[in-house]
Amino acid sequence: MEYRIPKRYTITAALPYANGPLHIGHLAGAYLPSDIYVRYLRLQRRDVVFICGSDEHGAAITLRAKKEGITPQEIIEKYHTLNSRAFADFGISFDIFHRTSAPLHYDTAQAFFLQLEENGAFEIEESEQFYDEQFGQFLADRYVTGMCPKCGAAGAYGDQCEKCGSSLNPTDLIDPISTLSGTTPVKRKTQHWYLPMHNHQAWVEEWITSGRFKDIASPVVPHDASAWKQHVRGQCLSWIRDGLKSRAMTRDLDWGVPVPLPNSDGKVLYVWLDAPIGYISATRQWAKDHNKDWSLYWQDPNTRLIHFIGKDNIVFHCIIFPILLKAHGGFILPDNVPANEFLNLEGDKISTSRNHAVWLHEYLEDLPCRKDELRYVLTSISPENADSEFTWKDYQTRINSELVAILGNFVNRVWVLYHKYYNGLIQGSGDQISFHDVDLKDMVEKTYDSISQHIEQFRFRQALFEVMDLARLGNRFLTEKEPWKKQSIAPVESAHALTDCLLLTAHLGRLLQPFMPDTSKRIFGMLSDEISQLFWDEPIILKPGSQINNPILLFEKMEDDQITKQIEKLQQANQVKAEPISSTMAPLKSEVVYDDFARMDIRVGTIKEAVRVPKADKLLQITIDTGLDVRTVVSGIAEHYKPEEIIGKQVVLLVNLASRKLRGIESQGMILMAKDLQGKLYFISPEQMIDPGSDVS
Ligand code: MF3
Ligand code: ZN
Repeated sequence: MEYRIPKRYTITAALPYANGPLHIGHLAGAYLPSDIYVRYLRLQRRDVVFICGSDEHGAAITLRAKKEGITPQEIIEKYHTLNSRAFADFGISFDIFHRTSAPLHYDTAQAFFLQLEENGAFEIEESEQFYDEQFGQFLADRYVTGMCPKCGAAGAYGDQCEKCGSSLNPTDLIDPISTLSGTTPVKRKTQHWYLPMHNHQAWVEEWITSGRFKDIASPVVPHDASAWKQHVRGQCLSWIRDGLKSRAMTRDLDWGVPVPLPNSDGKVLYVWLDAPIGYISATRQWAKDHNKDWSLYWQDPNTRLIHFIGKDNIVFHCIIFPILLKAHGGFILPDNVPANEFLNLEGDKISTSRNHAVWLHEYLEDLPCRKDELRYVLTSISPENADSEFTWKDYQTRINSELVAILGNFVNRVWVLYHKYYNGLIQGSGDQISFHDVDLKDMVEKTYDSISQHIEQFRFRQALFEVMDLARLGNRFLTEKEPWKKQSIAPVESAHALTDCLLLTAHLGRLLQPFMPDTSKRIFGMLSDEISQLFWDEPIILKPGSQINNPILLFEKMEDDQITKQIEKLQQANQVKAEPISSTMAPLKSEVVYDDFARMDIRVGTIKEAVRVPKADKLLQITIDTGLDVRTVVSGIAEHYKPEEIIGKQVVLLVNLASRKLRGIESQGMILMAKDLQGKLYFISPEQMIDPGSDVS
């Protein structure tokens, strides 16, 4: 296919959920590769906008809020701030880091939805969804867990099994459990807007396999299908082969962008419709701020749209979002989706719940000023086409035997010798120095071509390797030329060799810019006060007779004790949040302070009466003497106890829980129950009869 340099680029990096801090897996998966690519494009003087932001809706956030006992709003504020800072700290150079809670996003997402509705892109369907009777709420996506129907793993989520990666519907799960109440949910009818993806099967398949499809009305310029990564295409084709199915694009939730239509109370846009539109709303905000036309970046066929994501997001970006864009009309489709696979850590999956991760906000506290080192290591081991692994030992080796011993050493040798023999005065004549050694010149030029090609084809690992190869070549060149030996017998030749090395460091500085921006700046700073960045095609002007600056140490050796500390930190983290011994055992919840506990009023009560709740298999209506009053509690224990068995029993209950209606009955408080690993429930009772109203603490 003919190589076409597009007029402009829209580069997106997956919007991270604002439900937790970022770790090295996120950085290696999407943010570092996109940043390298964008920095490179900017150095090529291409018109590019780099888009990201917080994904602030979805069950991941409401569940986290529930777990921490705070509001979703508090969660998103906390993590939006923390994550924007982490990105800035690692030099991820977004043009905008927006958020999906912004009013402009609501407008954009609702308008997009209405246009789809107007175009007849949806089918409204009534279906049975899981419903938690105790909480009076439908259970979307992650609100249900159970056994994966595909691989049999326990603890699969309603939308996805993390074990085998299958995408699921909550009703597919075997033995479903509500994450709200821990009870088995019932099915209830509800109405949603569905995207009939099977109607799009033909063109999606054609587009993924050939890069084009027959549709003159679309502004889509064919992409080079062979440029897509194998594993990305593979995942798409396996979905397509299974047959695209209808998917609900709305949810019964109270957190999200409301469906902008009548009779849709309590319904919000599915987060996977909402979040990718976040790319568009972020672009609109950026365009407003910079007096640009956002539509050129999304609707002009001369724009190349590229989504950087992790492999868990492939189908959303390669199939669902393109269908939505096309069904809306007027939008270009992605030119490429260079998804990365997963980064493992010290022989295990990175896991947030087990705290098995290297957190970005902690890394720089523990290892100050080691930002470029992490960028270097993560790029060197980037999971571009297969899962890869980060270990602290490997991190240390790469820093010590590559950054320190090859790159740092070369630059340092050149500076020491240049100061020693020439007091740092650039040798030569004319306006600027150029290479004397033709082989070296040749190699440098070839390296530019090959690095450009690697970067344009998303092979950042290989590109960085070739930059380092040039530093290796520099060391060899210096060793061969031996200017320290030949200074007196061949002064001209020696000056040529050392000046060539000086020029080579300038090229290294330029080539390193996308990968290690701070290191580049420091190299430029050592060369001249005038250079702070170098475009790819810009002449490097180092004037004979001008003075280079004093050397600074580019990289410090990484000592064993620093590495040991990090390894121990991980081991401790793993112990604190040990994996539950059984898959049905609840994982350790996050820490609470004593005050949180003290706010709960827990007392002993005596059961006076109990009856079944009609048409609810699991619920008993129980009357309890709490010492304070006689009240009604609705409890999900009917499968474990018969009403007549429990009368007279003493139980422990939370008396100041806000009352709520279950099946039309006001439930005032909650009986505390123990659940064993088989899921059987037991009362917690005092050893002998005591006064109702006795305080439990
Ligand atoms: N927040 C989601 C995730 O982290 C989705 C991000 S990509 C977007 O997996 F397209 F939805 F923005
Ligand atoms: Zn599975």
